[in-house]
Amino acid sequence: MATTARPFHLVLWGATGFTGRLVAEHLAQSYQGKVKWAIAGRSRDRLESLRLSLSTQYGFEKEDVPILLGDLEDPQSLRAAFSQAKVVISTAGPYLRLGTPVVDAAVHAGTHYVDITGEIPWVTTLVEKYHESAREKGIRLIPCCAYDSVPSDLGALLVAKHAQEKLGKKLASITTVVAEGKGGVSGGTIASGMEIASQSVKTDDGRNVYALTPRSAWGRDAEFWGVKWNEDVHKYLTGFFMQVCNNRVVHRSNYFLSYGDDFRYEETVPAKSWLGAQAIRAGVLGFGLALSQAWLHGLLLRFLPNPGQGPTREAMLGGHFKHIVLAKTQEEDGTAPTTIRAEVGWNHGDPGYWGGSRLVLEAALCLALQSDALDADPQLQRGGLLTPASGLGATLIDRLRAADFFFDIKKEA
Ligand SMILES: NC(=O)c1ccc[n+]([C@@H]2O[C@H](COP(=O)([O-])OP(=O)(O)OC[C@H]3O[C@@H](n4cnc5c(N)ncnc54)[C@H](OP(=O)(O)O)[C@@H]3O)[C@@H](O)[C@H]2O)c1
Repeated sequence: MATTARPFHLVLWGATGFTGRLVAEHLAQSYQGKVKWAIAGRSRDRLESLRLSLSTQYGFEKEDVPILLGDLEDPQSLRAAFSQAKVVISTAGPYLRLGTPVVDAAVHAGTHYVDITGEIPWVTTLVEKYHESAREKGIRLIPCCAYDSVPSDLGALLVAKHAQEKLGKKLASITTVVAEGKGGVSGGTIASGMEIASQSVKTDDGRNVYALTPRSAWGRDAEFWGVKWNEDVHKYLTGFFMQVCNNRVVHRSNYFLSYGDDFRYEETVPAKSWLGAQAIRAGVLGFGLALSQAWLHGLLLRFLPNPGQGPTREAMLGGHFKHIVLAKTQEEDGTAPTTIRAEVGWNHGDPGYWGGSRLVLEAALCLALQSDALDADPQLQRGGLLTPASGLGATLIDRLRAADFFFDIKKEA
């Protein structure tokens, strides 16, 4: 796919949203003058006002960041905008409602695509509709490139690569412990949560960890929502609410990258006591149930942020996160597995917004600036509906380390 002659490295669709603006801020702060980018959306007025505010805040000429207009009802307008860039970043959600025309236009325009969705029922439709055509055309379509699911997916890749390259082993399982996380939530995320929770009830596909894996490769793994003691971290663990996205993404990566033969993945949060873990579990299951009830949405929105709103700047910049990744090697019966322990995180902002917008930006920059490195990695897929690990792999880990995210193997035991 020849995209070298395109005027922009990146086009940012949904730039006027809460998270889209943060991606634009990272671009302006860290890459202005080094990366050619354009902002895109449906409203010239809102895009103009965003551009004016960014150019004043970060001191660049506003004409340096052109505006491209598109209309979800008009495929040609989207194709015309996206064919000018090597990569589209889409931050316009809920994706179940707004996402498909954008992906469709990226495929038609021959443009790589990343987004920040966590809406697995929507991603399952993309696998069906676009995986083959994108694979044939050599286009990488990589949803879930923000906090969902980059730290989880690349954390799993980190320990699986360590096991294969340093120990010559496959993995039996990974338990990710979301040990620390400080941040808030945006209205767009709440809207997507409502959309996805209602959808899961309708389609009943919300509980299958293999939702993104071809049926022929399904194994015996199941979602963990109980409470159990973990000897490695000396804490009680219960299910982390975003495993409904992350474990499906990690299983799709395992499908492409073969971490283990009957590989299991779970994502958890720790508590000091059994009772504390039960309380977290009840809170997560209760909130999920409330989101799935359409008749409660009006009431919830009185107390929760609405679309366009999100955490304060202070809350975002004061945030951080840390995952502990515990992998067990695959062994013959009777042989004790080795445990590999790694840590993944960031100390420069919240995971969901300031951190998530940096994650998706670095994923897009991998595609725009490092296609040679990606093509040279024999483990990576060159096209299709991919995951961060199977589409960007170690190249993205290296970029993120350069942006101060940590991906550290701590020990084997
Ligand atoms: N997975 C993660 O870690 C993570 C983190 C953050 C956010 N997210 C997801 O990202 C999405 C955005 O969240 P947010 O809080 O940034 O949302 P938001 O502030 O509500 O922004 C939504 C964006 O979508 C655009 N949009 C809405 N309807 C449109 C239409 N019909 N045509 C074209 N554009 C349209 C809006 O443009 P206008 O300005 O023109 O209305 C705006 O740019 C949500 O799905 C959220 O769940 C995920």
